[in-house]
Amino acid sequence: MNQLIETTVVLEIDGESVEVPQGETVLKAARALDIEIPVLCHDDRVEPAGCCRMCLVEVEGQRRLQPACTFKASPGMKVRTDTERVARHRRGLLSLYKADHRLDEAGKPVSRGVHDMLADHIATYGTGPELEPVNAPRVSREHDTNPYIQFDPDACVVCGLCVRYCDEVEAVSAITLLGRGSATTIGTADQRNLLDTSCELCGGCIAVCPTGAMTEKPSLALPTEQIVRSTCNFCGVGCQLDLHVAEVPVTIGAPASAKQTKRVTRVTSPEPGTTVNDGNLCIKGRFSYEFINHDERLKEPLIRGADGQLHPATWEQAIARVAEGLHGVKQRHGADALGFVSSSRCTGEENYLMQKLSRAAFGTNNCHQCAAT
Ligand code: SF4
Ligand code: SF4
Ligand code: FES
Repeated sequence: MNQLIETTVVLEIDGESVEVPQGETVLKAARALDIEIPVLCHDDRVEPAGCCRMCLVEVEGQRRLQPACTFKASPGMKVRTDTERVARHRRGLLSLYKADHRLDEAGKPVSRGVHDMLADHIATYGTGPELEPVNAPRVSREHDTNPYIQFDPDACVVCGLCVRYCDEVEAVSAITLLGRGSATTIGTADQRNLLDTSCELCGGCIAVCPTGAMTEKPSLALPTEQIVRSTCNFCGVGCQLDLHVAEVPVTIGAPASAKQTKRVTRVTSPEPGTTVNDGNLCIKGRFSYEFINHDERLKEPLIRGADGQLHPATWEQAIARVAEGLHGVKQRHGADALGFVSSSRCTGEENYLMQKLSRAAFGTNNCHQCAAT
């Protein structure tokens, strides 16, 4: 017997009707209607956990408010995100988070120079009763000498998103929720230095952290004045990068005489779901950018002269010299005396051109690419 399989459900959110795939959450259904539901512990790349309670909404027939990030849409469901009960919940919850967060003199969450979703929510939804600040006994790893990742327990809301990202996206499980109750913190096995764990220093925990409790050590307190989209040049995948640029003194690898003051202050990924790397980066893409300002960086071709020294040259001169050398080898020893080795850091098009150069221009099949081994 043929059975009709229902693959979508229709529900109502704030009086508007929306059709979503079966199994979709209320949060995604609301987003389809451009209805904003605030979140802290949610990221589309990991399984929803429903632990921060920021996204609670009213669902008709449910006695309690329900987390939109985990609650599944069902046919005929009626959801409200805009009631006084929901607004009161948000204010009360934000009061609690604020009391457990390091504040500045104006009573706002301390700015760490990075995006702080908690501060945004407080500005948008307000807070309820002023609560006495809580001095949570969360510990950090002050002895952790890893060069890139800093954890500030006073800015952590223990949403666990960094831990879930590390588990589910990076598949590394280097960090964990450690301890119990108010002492729960983000730690490692035996509170080891991240360098002594399975951590790959991808920095994904920094990227997902909604409060900036996880931050980049090298760029702490450095500003962003401009963001420039670029393509990572460390391998051929083509990950997109957002280079944060600001006018700050060049310090690493630069000669004292360096006049250049604009530099990259941090690297982030574009939003998940918008580019090939889906919000993820590796250690090289995220942290290896000091070479940009290094005084020994090669910026132009060099040709070795009769004096044995390298001298600056134009690209035309350099390419002509290479062609002359390759033709000389072919004339003296035959085409198979040549070998062409390409790199996985090149694009597919560049690798294609390399084998074309080898086969069509010089007549040898001695061509290889490092990723082929
Ligand atoms: S840097 Fe990457 S691997 Fe290391 S703890 Fe963070 S998410 Fe896990
Ligand atoms: S460090 Fe950030 S992502 Fe991790 S639990 Fe704390 S607030 Fe959440
Ligand atoms: S975003 Fe839904 S509980 Fe955290």
